[in-house]
Amino acid sequence: MNLVDSIDKERLPNHLAIIMDGNGRWAKKQGFLRAFGHERGSESVKEIIRTCIQLGIQNLTLYAFSTENWNRPKLEVDTLMKILVKSLRKELATLEEKKIRLNTIGNFEKLPSSAQKELSSVIERTKNNDKMTLTLALSYGSREEIVNAVKTISDKVKNNIISIDSIDDSIINEHLYTHNLPDVDLLIRTSGEHRISNFLLWQIAYAELYFTDILWPDFKEHDLYEAIISYQKRERRFGKTSEQIK
Ligand code: IPE
Ligand code: IPE
Ligand code: MG
Repeated sequence: MNLVDSIDKERLPNHLAIIMDGNGRWAKKQGFLRAFGHERGSESVKEIIRTCIQLGIQNLTLYAFSTENWNRPKLEVDTLMKILVKSLRKELATLEEKKIRLNTIGNFEKLPSSAQKELSSVIERTKNNDKMTLTLALSYGSREEIVNAVKTISDKVKNNIISIDSIDDSIINEHLYTHNLPDVDLLIRTSGEHRISNFLLWQIAYAELYFTDILWPDFKEHDLYEAIISYQKRERRFGKTSEQIK
């Protein structure tokens, strides 16, 4: 039996998020520059998007660049932004063909104008697609997202648009970059690091976490199947007892 046949299509994660880590170490291991690792990482991105579409996953969110990643050497930042623009240009046809809607989360204004332009154009051209929402986290930091939400909500309270008593989970949700996305069901991090690195702190409150030692450029279809099979073996209790779930 193929691995994919062990996956229950009725119990897929509705929202899969991935911290794509390990490009630099992958390159270094084989004596290449880090930039080459990012190039090869973009091949994994393509394969994982294709696999998610085949499975029928509705929401895929990829951590591509964090607020902290701005502190990397300028050459590396420039290379990452160039790969982003190049990939968007190359993949637009596939996004249209596969009915994928592109979405971004993060501080859009901080991105170079070439990336902003390319992203805006692809977002506009794919906005009516409904097979899958592909969200790229770019210049994204969860703390910055929460700080911004707190500021906007405070402003609304100050101007009597909402009352303090009405602030609840859903009001906070509505003020996050992810307001149009469901909570994360499964979070994968590659490269053997067991940390969250400022990604979707609010949205992963009840996500299942899956860590693998595989470096992102080596993470392929088969590895995604293994992560989903692991996810499907778990009992998500959301605070209840096991008996209540059954
Ligand atoms: C992930 O790979 C890509 C980004 C963070 C942009 P890294 O570049 O972090 O690779 P490592 O962790 O140094 O191996
Ligand atoms: C997290 O990876 C960010 C992305 C994958 C885009 P990092 O490589 O930047 O994370 P740390 O610094 O090891 O925590
Ligand atoms: Mg890293």
